[in-house]
Amino acid sequence: MDISKITPSMPYILEGLGITLKIVSLAIILGLVLGVVLALCKISRYKVLAYIADFYTSIFRGTPLILQLMIIYFGAPQLFDYKIEGDVAAILAFGLNSSAYVSEIFRAGIQAVDKGQKEAAMALGIPYRKMMWNIILPQALKNILPALMNEFITLTKESAVVTAIGVTDIMRRAYIVGADTFNYMEALLFAGFIYYVLVMLLTLVGKLLERRLRSND
Ligand code: ARG
Repeated sequence: MDISKITPSMPYILEGLGITLKIVSLAIILGLVLGVVLALCKISRYKVLAYIADFYTSIFRGTPLILQLMIIYFGAPQLFDYKIEGDVAAILAFGLNSSAYVSEIFRAGIQAVDKGQKEAAMALGIPYRKMMWNIILPQALKNILPALMNEFITLTKESAVVTAIGVTDIMRRAYIVGADTFNYMEALLFAGFIYYVLVMLLTLVGKLLERRLRSND
């Protein structure tokens, strides 16, 4: 093994970072927004909303992510006759998938907020939306932050499955370099290093955020 063998290919692999980051960050946003909506549905008094949200979660949690990605990229376009870019399919698949997990995190977090908070808000005549947004969710957020960071870390690493639909992210590029130069080990380890640094950065951000939220106590 000689890591210097792939030095000329390092910039090529590193360029995949932009693609990975774009997919992951947009998927996180989609997952968060949809996840909160789903969580609110799950605790809603309208049972049909709760039922739909639960069913949604069971589908996206109950099947492999790579299958969902391939359905969006290969399957659905065949059925509905449209064309979709690989990165768009990836953002959709990861975002929809992540929202299923995020909704469970938020549901648990909301339900863990002392119910006296809700009762007090209602006694004061605070409307539901305001109560959720200004009173319940901020408190829930503090408790679920570690679980959310965990989800973002999972998503960052799982993004490597876009390799399967040919998107040239970090993983795919490392594989291409390996195949081209037959220095698989060096290229893969370099990719691994990039993912590791990304996850360490996310962990750090999570720790800082946690500390900051805790200082409000
Ligand atoms: N490997 C798992 C799967 O294929 C991971 C799913 C994504 N997980 C997540 N927390 N978003 O189903």
